[in-house]
Amino acid sequence: MEHHGYLGLTVGAPTALTGDGGATGTVVGPLPLSVEWLGDRVRLLDQRRLPGELVLVELGTVDEVCRAIAELTVRGAPAIGATGAFGVALAAVRGEDTHDAGRRLKATRPTAVNLAWAVDRALAAADPVAEAVAIAAEDVAANRAIGRHGLGLVPEGAKVLTHCNAGGLATVGYGTAVGVIRAAHEARRRPTVWVDETRPVLQGARLTAWELQALGIPATLVPDVMAASLMQSGDVDLVVVGADRIAANGDVANKIGTYGLAVLARFHGIPFYVAAPRSTFDPATPDGASIEIERRSPDEVTSLAGVRIAPEGMAAENRAFDVTPAALVTAYVSEDGISRP
Ligand code: MRU
Repeated sequence: MEHHGYLGLTVGAPTALTGDGGATGTVVGPLPLSVEWLGDRVRLLDQRRLPGELVLVELGTVDEVCRAIAELTVRGAPAIGATGAFGVALAAVRGEDTHDAGRRLKATRPTAVNLAWAVDRALAAADPVAEAVAIAAEDVAANRAIGRHGLGLVPEGAKVLTHCNAGGLATVGYGTAVGVIRAAHEARRRPTVWVDETRPVLQGARLTAWELQALGIPATLVPDVMAASLMQSGDVDLVVVGADRIAANGDVANKIGTYGLAVLARFHGIPFYVAAPRSTFDPATPDGASIEIERRSPDEVTSLAGVRIAPEGMAAENRAFDVTPAALVTAYVSEDGISRP
């Protein structure tokens, strides 16, 4: 696998990373940044091709950025937020209508509030480029703060279960839920991680597994359907997940399957933590029922890694996110600290 080339880099040292076309990217610790601004282009680490291939793609038009967000070249709420802001920056440097660009960017994925938040912030700024760059930098700082606040929730030697990918790839760098685990690891608390594979598109198996390997954090991949059994056998000490939008009443939209984990955690008396930056908290949405849940193509369910697994003509439903009621959340971890519902 191509990522072995930078596994040994010094943590915290920005270093050149060579992608397919000879492009170089910045690395935060052993992981490349998911999104970067190149002055007149946006560079993304192509998440569809991980873990098999490490490919950096450069986008020069707003349409390309919209397509990259919709097709999950970049995904994860804070990462698509920063990418959306860079899309507005791109429109600005190209002399295009930034508000039209902003509308198109925001329409790509409706659930993560970070996208609309970042696009609107870039649109409102006198200098959209500087604002987008600031949004990206602030995200990395917020994630590191989330890690610092959250590591106290991770007991020595804890067995942690996480879902989807809320790591460096899902953010600009470092990660939210994975950031908490990462900070605990860096503080030598020796956490081990159960990684839900996260059907249908396997962000856990492909992305979280790859990140944790790169970070040297002991992790074991499990099918999503194993969580109940792991909790029943006493093998989960806490659950930590990210979020795409947290409503004013504390309800949390996150990757489909999160709600089921929260119900299971409550039944088994296991703490359930949500790690997310301030930009994921949406005071304008009163409750979970008001959050628009993205519906994605049924093909993601009827196929696995591009191979059809269901019979031709079979109907499939593909809700990308679900809503966990605030009552099931033990605590939220943001850059501001720890708060309870
Ligand atoms: O469909 P995705 O892969 O964009 O969904 C991502 C998630 O659900 C993450 O948990 C969430 O965006 C938080 S990322 C820090």
